[in-house]
Parts: sequence; structure tokens; C-alpha cells
Amino acid sequence: MADYLTAQDKRSCYCAQLSKADIGKTVCVMGWVQKQRRLGALIFVDLRDRSGIVQLSFDEQTDKSIFDLAYTVRSEYVLCAKGVVRSRGEGAINPNMPTGEIEIAVSELKVLSTSQTPPFDIVENSPVRPDVRLRYRYLDLRRPDMQRNIMARSKITKIARDYYAENGFVDIETPNLIRPTPEGARDYLVPSRVHPGKFYALPQSPQLYKQILMLSGFDRYFQIARCYRDEDLRADRQPEFTQIDTEMSFVTQEDVIAVHEGFLKYLMKEFHGIELTEDFIRMPYEEAMNRFGSDKPDIRFGFELQNLSSLLKDCTFRVFADAIANGGSVRAINVKGGARFTRKEIDSLTDLAKTYRAKGLAWLKQNDAGEVSSSYAKFLTEEENANISSFCGVENGDLLLIVADKNNVVFDALGALRVECAKRLGLLRPDDFKFLWVTEFPLFEYDEEDGRYYAKHHPFTSPMDEDIQYLETEPGRVRAKAYDIVLNGTELGGGSIRIHDGELQALMFRVLGLTEQETTEKFGFLLEAFKYGVPPHGGLAFGLDRLVALLLGFEDIRDVIAFPKVQNASELMTGAPGPTDTKALEELSIALNIKA
Ligand code: AMO
Ligand code: AMP
Repeated sequence: MADYLTAQDKRSCYCAQLSKADIGKTVCVMGWVQKQRRLGALIFVDLRDRSGIVQLSFDEQTDKSIFDLAYTVRSEYVLCAKGVVRSRGEGAINPNMPTGEIEIAVSELKVLSTSQTPPFDIVENSPVRPDVRLRYRYLDLRRPDMQRNIMARSKITKIARDYYAENGFVDIETPNLIRPTPEGARDYLVPSRVHPGKFYALPQSPQLYKQILMLSGFDRYFQIARCYRDEDLRADRQPEFTQIDTEMSFVTQEDVIAVHEGFLKYLMKEFHGIELTEDFIRMPYEEAMNRFGSDKPDIRFGFELQNLSSLLKDCTFRVFADAIANGGSVRAINVKGGARFTRKEIDSLTDLAKTYRAKGLAWLKQNDAGEVSSSYAKFLTEEENANISSFCGVENGDLLLIVADKNNVVFDALGALRVECAKRLGLLRPDDFKFLWVTEFPLFEYDEEDGRYYAKHHPFTSPMDEDIQYLETEPGRVRAKAYDIVLNGTELGGGSIRIHDGELQALMFRVLGLTEQETTEKFGFLLEAFKYGVPPHGGLAFGLDRLVALLLGFEDIRDVIAFPKVQNASELMTGAPGPTDTKALEELSIALNIKA
């Protein structure tokens, strides 16, 4: 039988708040039993709450009935203990514990709840399979590291709220049941009972509402907003996630960047005590691709891409020459210190390149003694080989990796290889925070399969003034007033200056291949709203989960989400998604048609 709390049972402090300064005080703590051990006439119980652990001490001589009760407690029992803080005996001091110098001599004990033996120990970094952790997430969340992560997230959210409120942003909630308007990813749909055959979508972001709020005159909006996207999961992607979402009126790109860079600097100072005084680096999209093979470059290390095409366009090695002749390129990265990779390791780099559709990976290794081995040197003249090595600055200890293909394949493969090599060489320090802005993104992305253009950011993003002239004739060369904020190779956030002119917005929809009718159906309300006075506006949204993960040094955002989903989008603790009953389906006018 569980004991109950009475009005007299008032917790006086958290367990790990106690120290030598409290010796002699009577205190009351509550929490979970980490472990219990008996040494003859003494019992010690480590009691844990979200602050940490304190030792409770029970003496058979002092109070036999409390001693006997303490003898029955097991791991994860929930206790309320009152007693006097005292110094631990000489030799019993535990220097590894913040409360290691003291203990509580317990004079009153209540067992508030018992516990079965948990499926894993509630300790930091205990080796538990990820699915077991998530199945018992309530226990996993008791672990000190998870407690720290979730509390750090709360702190970061508070810092964000403080900063944006301080800077005049109004916190406004936007609906979660909205009209389906595709924004890139697949929507999560919610059937309407009242309107048979019609659906709400869960928002992929508050994009349209926040733009409408600018029309309504709120001038600066922000929201910690839940977003839903039915896309494939990865370490940095969940089907539901959180944005720090913002929008501002009467601004240019510079204004938006300044406010958000200010936030990141404020956050780094408040959260990590790190003062970032210099402006973040800015890099146009094209430069990012050419130098790093990525629109979210990790600039903590070098290994920049080098274009060998002009050196090799006339070479006799077909793999290289053909790639160039077909409009592609041959590019290399010089992995300093990479000569220590074995053949097997280079083979695995080749496999990695192939996952990015590269047909192969050419390499050259120059070891510390200056001996050269290579997969491609034999196909080139001595002069061509010498040119490549000198162009790329190959020195003893280096590994040169070359990919020849269409440009997008070359960029993807080398972009991934440079990060993988840096990882293997231990160059990726999680506490080295390198922010940068990537700007001048292309407005459109051409989809070969569908044979049409898609908006790279979203269809409300403004083209750059000087490129508007190419909208209809050469959409591929139009750059956008769009910007991403990148931290250590991860896209932390993105935004743009929006189109605030109804005619330009309508033209944009036309270029995207929407008919007049489709435009009216999907975005009629927006075009109508645009007839009533639109301030120039723009904004940005940070991925809060990614921000927290990176600040804490995690690669997987599941480590900073209390109840995340797994690869197949299910939630292991509750078993969501689940079936529903026939009656509910009937009410929704839904008949299932499940293919085996
Ligand atoms: P975007 O689609 O770039 O922009 O999203 C903004 C940021 O949200 C984070 N993010 C995700 N995080 C976890 N899981 C996901 N599935 C996921 N998808 C995105 C990323 C990303 O940079 N409405 C625009 C913003 C704007 O233009 O103001 C938008 O949603 O960190
Ligand atoms: P092969 O002629 O196919 O034996 O290739 C000779 C070398 O060129 C091998 O090291 C291949 O891995 C490499 N190679 C093949 N295709 C490519 C490519 N598209 N880019 C770079 N290297 C390649």
C-alpha cells in the first residue's frame, strides 16, 4: 500500500541542492530510489530527483521501525524523507558526487509508490537499445542525461521567447487545422466529420498565416510553432517538429538577418557563455556549392573542392574527359592527413560516393615517405598527373579524392566525402560553433522526372530584383531573396523576403505551372488579401530541435525531443498510430481500402 502526502509533508528542497552549508538543518526531500544498500545496522539509500542524488541514512539503533521500512525499498520506489543534514563520516565522503560530503539522517519516511524492477538502470549513458529506450521513454527520461537535455531545451525556448519579446515580436498562435496547400513535403491530413470528403491538413509551417498577419499590421510576429511533414525520417528530421517562427514587416534581407544573427549571438552568450563578436560569414549559394559541394557547408575544416576540368578536358582518360564533354566536371578534394586511410577505408569512401550516384571514386595517396599510389594515375600522362597534384597542393600525407560526373552528382558526392573524411580524422569538434549565412539561393529547382520547375524555398519567396526579368524566359537562372542559417553543416533555419505584389505572386504561380483555376482554388484568399495593402515583409524559421541538438552536441534530434517518433513514423511508447473503430470511420464517411 502506498503512503499519501499530508499537509505536513512539504518538500523543502531538491536532493542535490543540499551541501555542507546545510549541516544541522531539518529538510524534507522526495524522489526515486537510485539504490539501497545495507551495511549491518546501517542502510543507505541514494535518492534521486531532477537535480541529482542525495544519500539518506538509516540507523537500526536509532529507529528500528524506520530502519525496517527502509530495508524494504528497492530501485525506483518513490519516497518522502525527512531528517537532519549531517556530515558524512571520515572515509565515507564521495568526491564524485556534488552532495558527497553530506547525508540526511532520516527520522520520517514514507513510501509513496513502489516499483517493478526497471528494464534498464536509470543511469547516465546506460547501454540500452534505442527501441527499448523509446518503449519505456518515461524511464529513459528519468536518466540524468535526458533530464539535462529536456531542461536545456526548455531553457533555450525561454531565451528565444525573451529575445523576441524584447525585440518587439508579438507571440501569435496560428491554427493547426488548416486548408491543404502543399508546401513541399506531403501533408498529414485530418478528415472532416462535418464536411464529408473534405480534409484539414496539419501545417507544414505557419507560412501563409504569418504573412497574413503582416497584412493585418502586426509588424513583428513570432511563435514557437509545431509543424508536421509526412516525409522520410532522418537523424535531423521528425514528422512533427518545432520551429521558432518569425515574420517582420517593412524590412529588407539585411534587417531580417541582423535580428536573427542577434538572437543566435544572444543565445550563445546566455546558454554557453560564448561571446561571438564578429559578423557571421555570408556566402552566396553558388560559392557554397563550388567550394564545399553543399548549400549547408561545414566550415570547421578545409578540404575545399577544386575544379580540375580545365586541366583535364583534353585528357585521354575517358571517365574524366567524357564527364567534361557532357557538360559535367571533374573535381577533387585534398584530404590533408588522409594518406593514413587503408585501402579498405578508401573502398568504403567509394561506396559512400556511390550512394550519391557517383559512378566511381578516383584517388591518389602520397604517404609520409613521398610514395604515391593511385587508382587513376596510370590513365594520365606524367604532366597531367603533375598538374593535378600541384594544382591541388598535394603533399606527403595527403589523400586526393576525385569525382567526375554531372555537376550535381560531383557536388553531392564530394560534399559528403569531405565531411566523412573530416569525421574519420577527428576534425569535427561539437563545441566549435561555426555559423554562416547562405544567400542568393536559386528561386526554382528543376525536377527532371516531372519535367518542371518547383519553388526551392516556397512559392511566396521573392526573386532578386535584378533577376525578375528572367522569370518567364530562364527560370533556372533566377536567384531568390532567400537565406539559410547554417551551423556546422546543418541547416538550422531558413527564410526569405516574400513577394508582396499580387501580380508578381500570380506570375510566380504561372511559372510553377499552376493554372488560373488551381491558383484560385488553392491561393485565392491570398491573392485577394494582396489587394488590400501589403507591407513588404520577410521572415525566417529556425528548427528548434536542430538548434537544441547542435548546441548540446547531438547528431540525432531524438535526444532532445521528449517523445520522438522512430524511422517508420510510429511512437513506440503509446504505439501510435493506431486503428480506429468502424463507427468513427462511418462518421467521417471513410471506407478503408488497404492494399496488402
Ligand atoms: P523550412 O522548410 O526551411 O522553412 O523549415 C525551417 C527549419 O525547420 C527545420 N525543419 C525540420 N526540423 C526537424 N524535422 C523536420 N522534418 C524539419 N523540417 C524542417 C529546419 C529548417 O531549416 N516557412 C518556412 C520558413 C520561412 O520562410 O520563414 C519554412 O518552414 O531547421
Ligand atoms: P575504371 O576505368 O572503371 O576501372 O576506373 C578507373 C578509376 O577511375 C577507378 O579508380 C574508378 O573508381 C575511377 N572512376 C570511375 N568512374 C569515376 C567517376 N565518375 N569519377 C571519378 N572516378 C571514377
